[in-house]
Amino acid sequence: MHDEHPQQTPAEQLDNISETLRVELKSFTNLEARARAVNSPLEAEQQLQDLRRLRTKSLGKKSRFADLKKLIGRLPVEARAAFGQKIQQEEDDFLKAFDEEEASRKTLIEDARTARESIDVTMPGRRPRPGHLHPITLMRERIEDIFVSLGYAVEDDREIETDFYNFDALNIPEGHPARDPQDTFYTTDGFALRSQTSTVQIHAMQRRGAPVRMIAPGRVFRRDTPDPTHNPMFFQVEGLCVDRGITMAHLKGTLAEFVHRLFGPETRTRFRPSYFPFTEPSAEVDYSCFNCGGEGCRICKWSGWIELGGSGMVHPNVLRAANVDPEEFTGFAFGLGIDRTCARIYQLDDIRLLFENDVRFLDQFR
Ligand code: FA5
Repeated sequence: MHDEHPQQTPAEQLDNISETLRVELKSFTNLEARARAVNSPLEAEQQLQDLRRLRTKSLGKKSRFADLKKLIGRLPVEARAAFGQKIQQEEDDFLKAFDEEEASRKTLIEDARTARESIDVTMPGRRPRPGHLHPITLMRERIEDIFVSLGYAVEDDREIETDFYNFDALNIPEGHPARDPQDTFYTTDGFALRSQTSTVQIHAMQRRGAPVRMIAPGRVFRRDTPDPTHNPMFFQVEGLCVDRGITMAHLKGTLAEFVHRLFGPETRTRFRPSYFPFTEPSAEVDYSCFNCGGEGCRICKWSGWIELGGSGMVHPNVLRAANVDPEEFTGFAFGLGIDRTCARIYQLDDIRLLFENDVRFLDQFR
């Protein structure tokens, strides 16, 4: 029990304690304290904590106020009631004052939080910018749709290859000059980034055996210097059809049907003799210009024809490399560049636009 003022009566002590507490409480009830709390929820939080500390210190179990209450029973009987009432009254008044001050701070903190978390429904919203497909993807999907409707499966395969799949199995042995225009990028472990989708012919035949009818769209890589018609990375679609009795007529008919569906039924095809190590005979395929119909215009460079890609009858060595018997099966294959076809259709002067990722350009394909 505190014994700081032994000479004072309990009533005098109560007056002293109450006076001190009233002074301390004033620092919270004055206008300046309220203004600080109103301006900042942080200040209100601080004041709330201070108020709670002061309440415990002044009226809590270990306070001088509590000590005085314990004295009641030891007072002379005639003084007991009056002192008891007074101390109770004082305590009630103080508790009420604390409650009010604390409540005002709590309201303020709560209001600030509501304001912070509320949404102004009248504000204009942020317009979502939905993505869209890249022109190369759009082109690839158009090509896929046509071949799927002709009964072709769509094959996907690896972009990193061994020399075997990129060259040897395609009848391009080491030292063969045909490796030069298809030179690519190599990893240190003897792997190469595929320079054409023809690699998938071998994988597909090894996996499915014959007969097989598939297309393989995908990314390919070459050591080509970028210019308006070349990129070191571009897309091709490979096509392969192997069955009993497949002839060049099937190849011509299939590609003719393909360009009809892609550019319109009036489109004509033209096959020019060519050379690919993995086909024999081989042909470059052209189609009549979709813009001028063959008259000659800027798009077809005044020739009336546009190159589609390479094609030919699958070389027996390629069938053998994929464990297909060339005595029983024959087939045709073709490969076309998606980028250049895409550039022609959308009349782009430079295929590099397709890789620059300039949104002003890409936005036109929404
Ligand atoms: C080939 O890649 C053969 N694999 C095609 C083939 C498949 C022939 C099956 C026979 C049988 P070529 O190297 O011509 O062929 O490339 C085919 C197409 O790829 C070209 O017509 C062209 O559209 C595109 N192309 C070639 N190099 C690039 C390049 N650097 N940038 C963009 N497109 C290219």
